[in-house]
Amino acid sequence: MKTVIILGSSRSNGNTFKIAQELQNQLGCDLIDLKEKNIGPYDYEYLNTQDDYKNFIDHLVTHYDHWVFATPVYWYSMSGIMKNFIDRFSDCLRVDKETGRKIRGKKMAAIACGYDEKVFDTYFKPFALTAKYLGMKYSGDLYLSMQTDELKSESKKQITDFATLLKSIQD
Ligand SMILES: Cc1cc2nc3c(=O)[nH]c(=O)nc-3n(C[C@H](O)[C@H](O)[C@H](O)COP(=O)(O)O)c2cc1C
Repeated sequence: MKTVIILGSSRSNGNTFKIAQELQNQLGCDLIDLKEKNIGPYDYEYLNTQDDYKNFIDHLVTHYDHWVFATPVYWYSMSGIMKNFIDRFSDCLRVDKETGRKIRGKKMAAIACGYDEKVFDTYFKPFALTAKYLGMKYSGDLYLSMQTDELKSESKKQITDFATLLKSIQD
């Protein structure tokens, strides 16, 4: 089963990337940076169907079974870049239903990076509930606090444990 990490930070080489890269190295999987894509917000008139969303979601559906969303905590929520991408799942439910059907049965996990030591209990709910709505299996999530630019050894251990969990789900 092929895994991809989908990075949704406003900094391509920031803290979330460092965590995602460590996980990528441990899983030997691909990593795709949403910042390099032109994905606009959801539009009720579907006036943005010419942006990168359609090609990108087709690429994900075709090549990967396990999608790991990686976001910084921005104002107690996921990043705007990540939220735009998730909102666009609505395109797959309304106009591109064939792709929507292909999402069913895929797996989703989420990682988040914030400054605070802990994240509030419901932080990952939007990911878990989105997975449920789309018929995806939710594999789990990991929050890491980064108060400097360096990954703590304790964080690396948590990433290793998370990688082990994701691998056990892959097999
Ligand atoms: C716009 C903005 C909002 C933030 N809001 C929060 C927050 O609500 N809770 C938190 O713990 N950290 C918050 N932070 C800190 C970031 O989550 C933290 O610095 C993280 O490591 C940044 O990851 P990045 O380098 O991938 O952007 C915020 C940072 C920014 C830039």
